[in-house]
Formats: sequence, structure tokens, C-alpha cells
Amino acid sequence: MDKPKVVLGVSGGIAAYKACELLRRLTESGHDVRVVPTASALRFVGAATWSALSGHPVATEVWDDVHEVPHVRIGQQADLVVVAPATADMLAKAAHGLADDLLTNTLLTARCPVVFAPAMHTEMWEHPATQENVATLRRRGAVVLEPAVGRLTGADSGKGRLPDPAEIFEACRRVLARGVREPDLAGRHVVVSAGGTREPLDPVRFLGNRSSGKQGYALARTAAARGARVTLVAANTSHLPDPAGVDVVPVGTAVQLREAVLKAAADADAVVMAAAVADFRPAAYATGKIKKKDGQDPEPVVLVRNPDVLAEMSADRVRPGQVIVGFAAETDDVLANGRAKLARKGCDLLVVNEVGERKTFGFEDTEAVVLAADGTETPVPHGPKEALADTVWDLVAARLS
Ligand SMILES: Cc1cc2nc3c(=O)[nH]c(=O)nc-3n(C[C@H](O)[C@H](O)[C@H](O)COP(=O)(O)O)c2cc1C
Repeated sequence: MDKPKVVLGVSGGIAAYKACELLRRLTESGHDVRVVPTASALRFVGAATWSALSGHPVATEVWDDVHEVPHVRIGQQADLVVVAPATADMLAKAAHGLADDLLTNTLLTARCPVVFAPAMHTEMWEHPATQENVATLRRRGAVVLEPAVGRLTGADSGKGRLPDPAEIFEACRRVLARGVREPDLAGRHVVVSAGGTREPLDPVRFLGNRSSGKQGYALARTAAARGARVTLVAANTSHLPDPAGVDVVPVGTAVQLREAVLKAAADADAVVMAAAVADFRPAAYATGKIKKKDGQDPEPVVLVRNPDVLAEMSADRVRPGQVIVGFAAETDDVLANGRAKLARKGCDLLVVNEVGERKTFGFEDTEAVVLAADGTETPVPHGPKEALADTVWDLVAARLS
């Protein structure tokens, strides 16, 4: 079988060197990658590097090998075009259909999915010109990943950093797996909660749960690959890399999670609550470490109820038509408990999975049944958490359209 053909466009940002890692990941996972840098990109990383790593010649202009009409062929033959880093200039050119070098010509001739991974200073990213260009590209069906927050060129930091190459690779893999289908969540804002809350007892101890956050991260990643703007409210997931193109809001406790989800949900089309939120928290927090006392039994821990974020969001929809999805991890009577929970919470969809010694929490694979308020049931067979995530988004997209 032919290898999928990927065009890696590289424009002239300081993060151009990180595209070498993306290139490596793409070639090593069986893709035929043609690198098309801009002239500015070659000021950062030379043509020899791109050529040696990709095994293809490298040109920036339309005037090389004219008999092969590369300005048309490269785009026409591509299964995916990814531009990483995408400069403010490249986003502007792409949005306006300019075609003054090989990469911009390729963007006009490509009919495959296109992913942009922008990287620039925060001011450039936030400028209304850039934001309008991004909106135009997204409206036309391109996947424009949100830049990450962090260290920028020089001493500055803020939003505008190129997402981790491993995460851009994951986004490309997801987009390629979906093929030329329209990014059906383009123009949508979705909120996903992930991880497990921790309810502190004292400065060193907490009540927690075994949720790894992997299912929520898979939901965030797949939604971004389907074109959504994604806010990921992440409870205690510092062990997981930020997915490319996703705004991550770190939280600790159930109360903090509620606040962050409600804030992000104000303009969201869908909210998917994959986090394991503690039902109870200690009634009191000891400001100093609780000590053992000789000859004395420990004080019992008194618990109070945490807010039920899923029920609250479902009852008071902040936007008409907002789709709310919950998760239920059950150990027995899985479906019966799931149906009862769906009715009690009032959400649109409830993903029910069985948890146990070797099931779901912390594992790469899962299986589940998605129960809908309209009575339908969608079984999702054993497989990667991303497959379950895509089924959830299929059901959400059908309800949004
Ligand atoms: C050191 C340096 C770093 C730069 N980094 C970026 C960047 O990260 N993002 C960006 O949009 N422009 C950046 N620029 C500006 C672009 O290189 C400039 O807009 C150029 O015209 C982009 O050309 P291209 O889009 O054809 O690659 C940088 C310029 C310099 C000199």
C-alpha cells in the first residue's frame, strides 16, 4: 500500500527547528513527507536538514523542476498538509489566497485536510488581523490549533508557543484517520473536564481517585482534530502533555473544577464531563500536618457533599441547545445504574463504563455504552480511548446540527 503523502509546510518562525521532530515522527510512522519551507524558514533551519530527514528535494519557490509543475502537483497529491510553525504572515497569506511561493501555491491546490500549528508572540496572535485570518481559515474547514502558553522567543512568555511536536503529530494522525471529512466541530467551542479531583485533608494529604485523565485528554485531542476550539479543565494531570491546540485550565478540587467549567461553559456548544469529581470532601482542612498522637485513635474524617456539577449544568443550561455529556464509572449493574444516573442528572448523553481491577482507569483501552436521553444506546467495543472519544463527538455533532 502507498504511504500516506504528507506535506509539511514550515514558515519562518523561531520554532522551525521543532518541525524537525514532527518530520521525524511522521516519517518513522510510515508517512511519505515532502517538506515545503518558506524562504524565511530556511533562515532558521537549512534545506539540507529538511532534505536529508525527508528524503525528498526541497524548494521554496515555484521555479524549480518546472516540468513537473510542483506548484500544483504537490498539493494535489497530498493526503494531508500541516503547516508547523505557521507564522502570522503565513496565516494571513493562506486566509487571503496569496500564492507567491511554493507553500502558498500548495495550500491553494490541496483538497485534503489542512492543519495549521501557529506560533508567534502573544501580541501577534491576539491582533484582530490574525484572529480574523484564523476565523476565516477555520470557517473554510482548516484545523487551526490553538498555540500553547509558555516560553516564547527571548525572555517573554505567554500564549503563542508552538504546541509540543508529539502533540501536533497526534493531531495530524487524528485528522488523517478521519480522511477528507469536513471538520464537523469547526466553529464550535467545547469544554472537556479530565482527571480526578483531590480534596485536601491537610497540606500533605488528600482524598483522591484513580482517574488518569487519559479519556478526557483523548476527547480534547479528537475535538481539536475535528476543528473545535477546546477548553480542557484538567484536574491533577501534570503527568500528561498538553494536547496540541487546546486551552488547558489546571484545577485541583471539585469546587475549583466547578468554577472553571462554569466559566468556560458560558459560550460553549458542548460540555463533556469526563473528570472523576469527588462526591465528598473533608468538612475541615487542617492547616498543619495531622500528627499521630501516642495512645490515641485518629480523629474520624467527617465528609460533606461536593457540588454536583453535571446535574447543575444539565438543569441550568447556560446556552440554549448546549449539549451536556456525563461519564459514569460503575462496578456492578452497570447499565441499570447508568440509566438511573442519566435520568437523575438530566444530561443529554451518559457514557457508562465498567471499572474494576484491570478496567478503564489508567489503561489505554476502554469499552463503554453511550446512553442518550432520547432512549438510544450506542455500544462502543473494546478499543482505544480515542475511538470512544470520536463516538461521543459523532453523537454531540449530530445533536448540534
Ligand atoms: C528571530 C525571528 C523570529 C521570528 N519568529 C516568528 C514567529 O515565531 N512567528 C511569526 O509569526 N513570525 C516570526 N518572525 C517574523 C517572520 O519571520 C516574518 O514575518 C516573515 O516574513 C515570515 O515569512 P513566512 O511566513 O513566509 O515564513 C520572526 C522573525 C525573526 C527575525
